[in-house]
Parts: sequence; C-alpha cells; structure tokens
Amino acid sequence: MTAPLLVLVGSMGAGKTTVGGLVATALGVEFLDTDQLVEATAGKPVAEIFVDDGEDHFRELERIAVAAALSSHGGVLALGGGAVLDESTRALLDGHQVVFLQVGLSDAASRVGLGVSRPLLLGNVRGRIKQLLDERTPIYAAVARHTVPTDGLDAAEVADLVLALVQDGEHVHQHD
Ligand code: S3P
Repeated sequence: MTAPLLVLVGSMGAGKTTVGGLVATALGVEFLDTDQLVEATAGKPVAEIFVDDGEDHFRELERIAVAAALSSHGGVLALGGGAVLDESTRALLDGHQVVFLQVGLSDAASRVGLGVSRPLLLGNVRGRIKQLLDERTPIYAAVARHTVPTDGLDAAEVADLVLALVQDGEHVHQHD
C-alpha cells in the first residue's frame, strides 16, 4: 500500500488542481486528481456523467476512485470538492496528510469563471458557491491537518505555503 504524500481538499475554485500540480512538480512526484480518475473510468467528462447518469452515480464512481488513489498513489492527490461528503471517504482520510485549501466566495467565483464544466454551479455560480462553502467548509476543516488560506494569492504563492508545510513535516519527522 502506498499513501499520497499530500491530499488536497477544498471547494471548487480553491485551486486544488493547479496548486497540486505545482507542488508535485516541486517535489518531483506525480499529481493525480480524482476527477481525472472518474473521467477515465466513465470514459466521459464529469459534466456528462452528471447529465447522463446522475449525481449519485458520479458520487459512487468518486468514492471508488478516492479509495483506490488513497491506497495506491504515492504523489500529490487532489480530491473533487464534494468527495468529503461521503462518510466512508472521511474515515479513509484519517491518518493521511490532508491539507485544506481555503477560499472565500469572491475568489472562488472569480477562479471558476462561468463554471461551465462544473454541473453543480450551473444557473447561479455565486449563489451555488456560497451555499456549498457554507455547507462544506466545516467538513473540510474537520478532515484536514492543515488549513492554507488562498484568498488574494496566486497559485505559486499557495504552492509555496503548502511546500513549507511539507518541509516542516519532514523536519519534525527527522527529529522524532
Ligand atoms: C464537485 C467538484 C468538482 C467535480 C464535480 C463536483 C463538487 O471537482 O468533482 O463537478 O461537488 O464540489 P473540483 O473541486 O475539482 O472542481
């Protein structure tokens, strides 16, 4: 069993995919996003899975993808924004190096733009993000060991904050 070095959680628009890619490159490891795994399994984009098969089916594929990645991916892993809603996923995250990339409404809305590839945002991007942030922020915080605020920062700045956490972790580990 191989565990990820880092697992990034947080809302759509938190920058998980962009920051995760930068952090993985800096550490010389692979980056994986659970949405990619789900898309590979289903053979179509997330938005099409929602339309053709429904959200429940997407969540089932996501639960399986997260469990597989947590036991086999040794690099940096980003979870889709809703993955932590699943209780068994939350249980699996226990013991992992989980980092919550925190974002407020304004930055999340500007980062997702029109949100066309994100079915949960269709119709009213700001309103939906606000609702999702209100519902999910306590859950992200509860599963995470570290919270990294991202508002007003670009992806490289956030990646540096995340890398500092990893390096601190190594430091603490060396002196165990
Ligand atoms: C979702 C987030 C998306 C994707 C799907 C549902 C959510 O991933 O899994 O559209 O419920 O927040 P990102 O957080 O990578 O955008």
